[in-house]
Amino acid sequence: MPMSVDDKSRSSSNFFNNKGRCKDSCLIIIFGGSGDLAKRKLFPALANLMFKKLLPEQFKIVAVGRKPMDIPQLLSMGKYSEDFAAKFEYLQTDYSPEGIKKLKATCDRLCKENNIPPNYLFYLAIPPAGYSEVAAALKKGGMVHQPKGSHWCRLVVEKPYGRDIESAVALNEDLLSCFAEKQIYRIDHYLGKEAVQNLLVFRFANSVFEPIWNHHYIDHVQISHSEILGAEDRADYFDQSGLLRDMIQNHLMQILSLVTMEPPVSMSADSLRDEKVKVLRSLRPLDLTEEPPVAVRGQYGPGLIKGQPVNGYREEKGVAPGTSTETFVAMRMHIDNFRWSGVPFYLRSGKRLGRKGTEVVVTFKKLPKILFNTKSTPVNNNRIVFKIQPQEAILLELTSKNPGQSFDLSDTSMNFCYSDHFDTSADAYERLLIDAVLGDPTLFVRSDETELSWKYLDPLIKGWAAQSMGSHFPNYVAGSEGPVEATHVLLSHAENMEWLDFAKYDNVCPPPTAP
Ligand code: BG6
Repeated sequence: MPMSVDDKSRSSSNFFNNKGRCKDSCLIIIFGGSGDLAKRKLFPALANLMFKKLLPEQFKIVAVGRKPMDIPQLLSMGKYSEDFAAKFEYLQTDYSPEGIKKLKATCDRLCKENNIPPNYLFYLAIPPAGYSEVAAALKKGGMVHQPKGSHWCRLVVEKPYGRDIESAVALNEDLLSCFAEKQIYRIDHYLGKEAVQNLLVFRFANSVFEPIWNHHYIDHVQISHSEILGAEDRADYFDQSGLLRDMIQNHLMQILSLVTMEPPVSMSADSLRDEKVKVLRSLRPLDLTEEPPVAVRGQYGPGLIKGQPVNGYREEKGVAPGTSTETFVAMRMHIDNFRWSGVPFYLRSGKRLGRKGTEVVVTFKKLPKILFNTKSTPVNNNRIVFKIQPQEAILLELTSKNPGQSFDLSDTSMNFCYSDHFDTSADAYERLLIDAVLGDPTLFVRSDETELSWKYLDPLIKGWAAQSMGSHFPNYVAGSEGPVEATHVLLSHAENMEWLDFAKYDNVCPPPTAP
């Protein structure tokens, strides 16, 4: 049976023409086209893709928005070439049947004028409350065609994808009543990051690590995301969401899946996502009565960032008075399968902390204290540190002998900095956008993944919602490492069990160059 275009795997050369460009001419239709995400992320990524000659020869971008706007205003936030600006059409409309009719007429005209077949990439860069409405309006307006032959139609959906299990299931139902699963591209921009994708290559393209990647050798894993930024101008959204929904349910749990999944049978989208789903299915259900606690939350108070005083979260504009919304989460997770039985996974993420960085640290078990251990020079655990950002690096922490007559030991490290070897300036959105245009959903999230991660977090979401933090918040100072309670989730199975000092990895590589 011939494959539809949406069934091809990325390794297929069918995607590109002989000039290395994406083969299929198309229209990229951005809802929320005059909004912040489009201007900050999507337009620069599209401009770079065009500059790199990856986008098809023939394509047009239709920015759809409610405000009146012309192209110079639309592109005023960046420096774009005239060629890029010429790709744009701005359409001021809403999602009413009349509005969609206008959109359809615009798309028909652009396809005709530019000899583009009806290949549509719809991108929802709008508030999530509008996702179902737009999908239904497109379907009703006759703009959604099922993948057939070489013509396609896809929907890219931004996060947040639901706010709990019920809303995620409802959203999936709504979108799946308009588009087939293989047409829906749910974005998690962490999957577009090179260092996140490299977790797979590190594990499955290097023979030395896979045999020891299990509970026999690994003591525990820490995944940490630390931001200097606070809620900023997104407080309206963030105060309704909180850190658990904003970072853990998606980005950090995606990283966890990639670090722990079994090797997929191939690199096709479904093989990879099947394995991530198995990890999510193996997560031990959260028990809020467990001691030590499986999760703690925090909220920042006023403090100093780089010597400058900053407000506490409750003082930010757009935040409800006395809010219990968390800006910090620390959690312990267990994956109850053969590979990971007994290995704790610690996840931590927070806003308005003292540094920016995302790291995954795999700590190996200690050797018996027989040969070299002394009080002054203990043999420490080996560690593999994956620095995801801002610099991208992999470090292998080892113990080495100090030169001299005795066996005195030192902690040493073998460092690999991406920037020494590669140009790493491409933004995650570039990779994700070109994949969506190509029709490769490998780095997008499947419906069952979103539902399983929401289902897993559900007891915590509900438990925390039922318990206001009134006078317990704020519990950490802006610019600090987060609340002291973060250590409560750590099991004392190993001596000196603590959150690692991630700041010590900050300067292992040269600072990243501005994109
Ligand atoms: C977004 C969250 O998804 O990720 C933000 O909504 C967060 O609150 C951001 O700041 C972090 O992304 P990055 O790529 O800067 O680590």
